[in-house]
Amino acid sequence: MVSYKELGLVNTREMFAKAVKGGYAIPAFNFNNMEQLQAIIQAAAETKSPVILQVSKGARNYANQTLLRYMAEGAVEYAKELGWEKPQIVLHLDHGDSFETCKSCVDMGFSSVMIDASALPYEENIALTKKVVDYAHQFDVTVEAELGVLAGVEDEVSAAESHYTKPEEVIDFATRTGCDSLAISIGTSHGAYKFTREQCTLDPKTGRLVPPPLAFDVLHEIEKKLPGFPIVLHGSSSVPQEYVDMINELGGKLPDAVGIPEEQLREASKSAVCKINIDSDSRLAMTAAIRKVFHDKPGEFDPRKYLGPARDEMKKLYMHKIINVLGSDGKA
Ligand code: G3H
Ligand code: 13P
Ligand code: ZN
Repeated sequence: MVSYKELGLVNTREMFAKAVKGGYAIPAFNFNNMEQLQAIIQAAAETKSPVILQVSKGARNYANQTLLRYMAEGAVEYAKELGWEKPQIVLHLDHGDSFETCKSCVDMGFSSVMIDASALPYEENIALTKKVVDYAHQFDVTVEAELGVLAGVEDEVSAAESHYTKPEEVIDFATRTGCDSLAISIGTSHGAYKFTREQCTLDPKTGRLVPPPLAFDVLHEIEKKLPGFPIVLHGSSSVPQEYVDMINELGGKLPDAVGIPEEQLREASKSAVCKINIDSDSRLAMTAAIRKVFHDKPGEFDPRKYLGPARDEMKKLYMHKIINVLGSDGKA
């Protein structure tokens, strides 16, 4: 048993309370490899933004949970080396799918876990979430739960349709589970294809797809039911069209990739939404940058020469999200 506190990590409690009051959101960036982690820490240290490092099931399968945990421990020291005296870094399990997975993360030093039982019937979601909360809280580890189901095509997290969170359930759910934050469904979804062509309209000026707006009415009703309670948005990549175009122009194939407009995420950040999950955008930044090196310098075969530019592009993206979208800069 290792406490996250010994590793210099923090849980989400104080961070979320400040974010809800201050009208900004904390970035939750997924990481699978060293370059992503370096870019996240560099961006957070430079902007003095609290940050949540997220480890998904896919990441655990790809990189190994233990290794990722040690990388996060290293990240705290790296942040200090970059001049961030008191780094505000959370190590969070993203979409934990069982009590055992959540427990193993708590036991190895994660400071926050998500139990995603949103696909289960309501009472089963409550029972499993409460079991995780009861365990995690003994060690001051915070717990995110989910109510409502996101649409999405992402491999490990999929649901054919989106079922918006029912505002009439949130008080009962939060009270009976004791969860520290709640992920809700208001129209976001995982991956780079968040809406079909049919769901979008076409901007006549740019020819770009314009997605339907998020269900802010549902969000505001939830806020009214649970004043000040930390709300989380998954599936919040904006799928920057510059990256999509670059990838497509350089031999890739991402037809009709579309995300959540950043103005809507900015608006959500000003509300009780205090954690915004972004993964796909960093995948796009990395892929675009790597494709560019492969296109411009076909003789290049030193991975550092294409992973380096990929890291720089991700850092640029993370800084943009922190400063221009979530507003968390200067808050740590
Ligand atoms: O919520 C989904 C994340 O983007 C993680 O996806 O399991 O493919 O790493 P992954
Ligand atoms: P995106 O696929 O929109 O980046 O969402 C990531 C996410 O919600 C991770 O939990
Ligand atoms: Zn998610």
